[in-house]
Amino acid sequence: MSNQDPNRVIIFDTTLRDGEQSPGCSMTPPEKLRMAKALADLGVDVIEAGFPAASRGDWESVQTIAREVRGPIICGLARCNTDDIDKAYSAVKEAPRHRIHVFLATSAIHREHKLNMAKEEIIRTAVEGVRYAKALCEDIEFSPEDASRTELEFLAEVVTAVIAAGATTINVPDTVGYSTPQEYAEIFQYLKQHVAGIDAVVLSVHCHDDLGMAVANSLSAVHAGARQIECTINGIGERAGNCSLEEVAMALKTREGFYGLHTGIQTTRLYPTSRLLSTTTGMLVPRNKAIVGENAFAHESGIHQHGMLKHHSTYEIMRPHDVGLSRTNLVLGKHSGRHAFRDRVKDLGFELSEEELNRAFTEFKALADKKKELFDGDIEAIVLRTGDAGEGPWSLVQLWASATSGEASAVVRLVHTDGREVEQGATGDGPVDAVFKAIERATGTPAKLVTFDVHAMTEGEDALGESIVNVEYNERSYRGVSLSTNILESSANAFIECVNRIQSSRSEGRRTHAQLSADASTVKVMA
Ligand code: KIV
Ligand code: ZN
Repeated sequence: MSNQDPNRVIIFDTTLRDGEQSPGCSMTPPEKLRMAKALADLGVDVIEAGFPAASRGDWESVQTIAREVRGPIICGLARCNTDDIDKAYSAVKEAPRHRIHVFLATSAIHREHKLNMAKEEIIRTAVEGVRYAKALCEDIEFSPEDASRTELEFLAEVVTAVIAAGATTINVPDTVGYSTPQEYAEIFQYLKQHVAGIDAVVLSVHCHDDLGMAVANSLSAVHAGARQIECTINGIGERAGNCSLEEVAMALKTREGFYGLHTGIQTTRLYPTSRLLSTTTGMLVPRNKAIVGENAFAHESGIHQHGMLKHHSTYEIMRPHDVGLSRTNLVLGKHSGRHAFRDRVKDLGFELSEEELNRAFTEFKALADKKKELFDGDIEAIVLRTGDAGEGPWSLVQLWASATSGEASAVVRLVHTDGREVEQGATGDGPVDAVFKAIERATGTPAKLVTFDVHAMTEGEDALGESIVNVEYNERSYRGVSLSTNILESSANAFIECVNRIQSSRSEGRRTHAQLSADASTVKVMA
């Protein structure tokens, strides 16, 4: 992407690649597609849709996004070897605008301990990778992984060589979140002074949040001349996460007078997109998280409330509706019609197809039979779970559970898509444990429970409860999320979703970015 407007910052979203590969954030292909469409509506410029060489499933997901999502450039990640680059290209090529993102680590730590490659070999491999990719695709991004811990002179040498080989975007990753705002800006200043041809490429930032400075580092680098920010919704990503898209976009918008920069982000889509991701992955947003947290616009203290009543600008630097937070105290109930429901869904920032709206309205009616009053949180929950991809071979038919102060027991009846109905019982430490054990027996899938959370989506005794279950099976993590006014039922369904994900991924054999990136032998194929 050439950047015609010198003050326009390109937003490169990597929620579906760096974000999705972190533990607990994996998504099914339909979930990824839904998220990619939401990112396009949000106005991101580039979607890094995945790492096509990681598995057949990843390749297919990237290809589906490239075929179906219009607007942003669709990008696929690849190491510097022909096989990865071929896979990335074949996955993205059907997008009208596509990009291959090749990376190779450059720091001494990675050269010596991970790759076992000398400096010359790094440059040769990076150049061959970029050249090979360039023969397939015009738009090439190169990332010297762990750039922020790379000797500046060597970094400039690598960058000069890959620009000459055809790279059009140079990304400078702070892979381990080690840099500080000043130091990170200095890397960009150094590259601008020492790299021939640097003005012809877009400089990009990619920051991890290990020291809580990913957003600050990204802003510092754009202040120093970078014009692409790589970020993720809710800041999800490896370890402490990546730079948070909503924070960096609102910082640039709110402080436009200072930075003099702008993005193409439709900020009123930020809150619905954040909610979509947290509901899809079960990765909850902390209450006090900037921009999209529950408390981001709440004013509790008397002095602040008093000031807000006089004028909102006393204690508010952004308006809630600027970020798409348009919850009200309006209540719907079982007598509310389709029109009222449709209008509320729209006001909350969700666009549903006719079919999705019908499905959501049916769920709304069913919930309205159980619950007197439905709040905006209930409607959001229904809409976000509509078209949910947690489907799989097993589903719950019936559940019985009882608990005394001594022991708990449960019986579940499940049905498999092949027509089998299985009933199994178990005892446990409390009814939820008994339900999970009964499901393990019924499905023959002994998953190890890692975390289990239940929280109310709205106020009131009859609030919808969201259950989020994370399990481990064969050293991989799986997640299930489900909603019900009955928390035993939502817990059972969330656990069944984990089992379904385990059963459908058994044959896939996907490897993580860290595993792939550490595989020096495949990196060297081109050299
Ligand atoms: O953090 C990192 O270095 C990466 C690269 C692949 C860009 O994610
Ligand atoms: Zn990263």
